[in-house]
Amino acid sequence: MRVLVIGGKGTLGSAIVKELSSRHQVLVCGRHSGDGICDITSEESIRALFEKVGPFDAVVAATGTVHFEDFSHMTSEKYLIGLMDKLMGQVNLVRIGTEYIQEKGSFTLTSGILSCDPIRTGSSASMVNAAIEGFVRGVAIELPRQLRINAVCPTVLQESMGKYAPFFRGYEPIPAARAALAYSKSVEGCQTGQIYQVL
Ligand SMILES: NC(=O)c1ccc[n+]([C@@H]2O[C@H](COP(=O)([O-])OP(=O)(O)OC[C@H]3O[C@@H](n4cnc5c(N)ncnc54)[C@H](OP(=O)(O)O)[C@@H]3O)[C@@H](O)[C@H]2O)c1
Repeated sequence: MRVLVIGGKGTLGSAIVKELSSRHQVLVCGRHSGDGICDITSEESIRALFEKVGPFDAVVAATGTVHFEDFSHMTSEKYLIGLMDKLMGQVNLVRIGTEYIQEKGSFTLTSGILSCDPIRTGSSASMVNAAIEGFVRGVAIELPRQLRINAVCPTVLQESMGKYAPFFRGYEPIPAARAALAYSKSVEGCQTGQIYQVL
């Protein structure tokens, strides 16, 4: 398969690329470098990527920014960061990608543990991650051409504990390589509309 991994140079994305690369042609895409350049906050940029890369069978989104801050300091604008980047960025990858992806192709999105296990400062992340999971369940029954879609909901990664540990006390971190297996299940399996929690 030809697989696009958006955010493939990141902490999670690089583990997904490693997992899939031995069996598939993986194209790493990021904002600044990679086999393809794409900013998921721009519909034009998403379309330009799909036009440039040629035929593909799977899109994995391993990216998405949200704003972390105490609820008392959150504003509309701060919530909009996560809504326009992590949520609508991934929704638009699917919406526009549906025009370009091969028949029976798949989309795999990324939510995160905060959808169901919240932390202080994480109200935007909890909202956005839950919305991504709702979108996946909803759109799975409407996708044309036998396309599939799933989301992976990883807990915090061992590789990220350097910066996230103070916010995730009591959470058991997992290696990114273990989270990557769920992306493999989504891309290489045949399920759709699933949320794979990796805890
Ligand atoms: N790390 C964790 O513990 C953890 C746990 C659960 C869920 N997650 C979720 O997993 C996703 C990735 O997290 P991460 O820790 O791997 O992040 P990361 O290390 O910061 O990597 C993010 C990657 O996404 C790319 N990127 C950023 N903004 C983009 C945009 N607007 N358009 C296209 N590409 C963009 C970056 O490329 P450039 O450098 O070129 O911009 C980079 O390759 C996030 O949604 C995060 O919430 C992470």
